[in-house]
Amino acid sequence: MTIRKATVADQPRIHAIRMGVKENVLSDPSKVTDEEVAWYREQAIFLVAEEDNEVVGFACGNHLSGLVWALFIDPGHEGRGHGRALLDETLARLKAAGHSQAHLNTGGGTRAERFYRRHGWRDMGYDLGGQVVFVRSL
Ligand SMILES: CC(C)(COP(=O)(O)OP(=O)(O)OC[C@H]1O[C@@H](n2cnc3c(N)ncnc32)[C@H](O)[C@@H]1OP(=O)(O)O)[C@@H](O)C(=O)NCCC(=O)NCCS
Repeated sequence: MTIRKATVADQPRIHAIRMGVKENVLSDPSKVTDEEVAWYREQAIFLVAEEDNEVVGFACGNHLSGLVWALFIDPGHEGRGHGRALLDETLARLKAAGHSQAHLNTGGGTRAERFYRRHGWRDMGYDLGGQVVFVRSL
């Protein structure tokens, strides 16, 4: 398994993974703009996990705010440690950027919610969109 920075060439595969997940599905793809994706890739934290030279997951972090904006693993490659490895590296980079706490939100009742609870994230309740807000000390 390799974790590395995402490049423009990875974008079609990243998009396919984002559209292929079974939970935390993107209800309205127009909500994520090309500009936003380029900003994460060029200025913030945008990492991919590779297995056998294939991108199998990605994570994005906002070095300005401490937000974990995205963490998505191809459904065929779940349960092999890619999610944990991507999240650990994203959190290490947020910490290096000066943050002592990271935050994110995710759909309730999902594998992701259980994953975050197991990995030390604290449930702060539901936001207006019905998502669980989690925080974690770094
Ligand atoms: C939630 C999500 C990111 C987790 O990613 P993942 O790669 O499946 O997670 P991991 O494999 O790192 O860990 C999950 C479990 O798999 C198992 N696992 C981890 N490494 C393993 C390995 N090498 N071999 C076998 N099983 C392993 C463990 O049970 C682990 O739980 P633990 O960390 O408590 O031990 C992923 O399921 C996903 O993308 N879900 C859909 C999209 C989504 O909801 N994203 C979050 C949006 S906020």
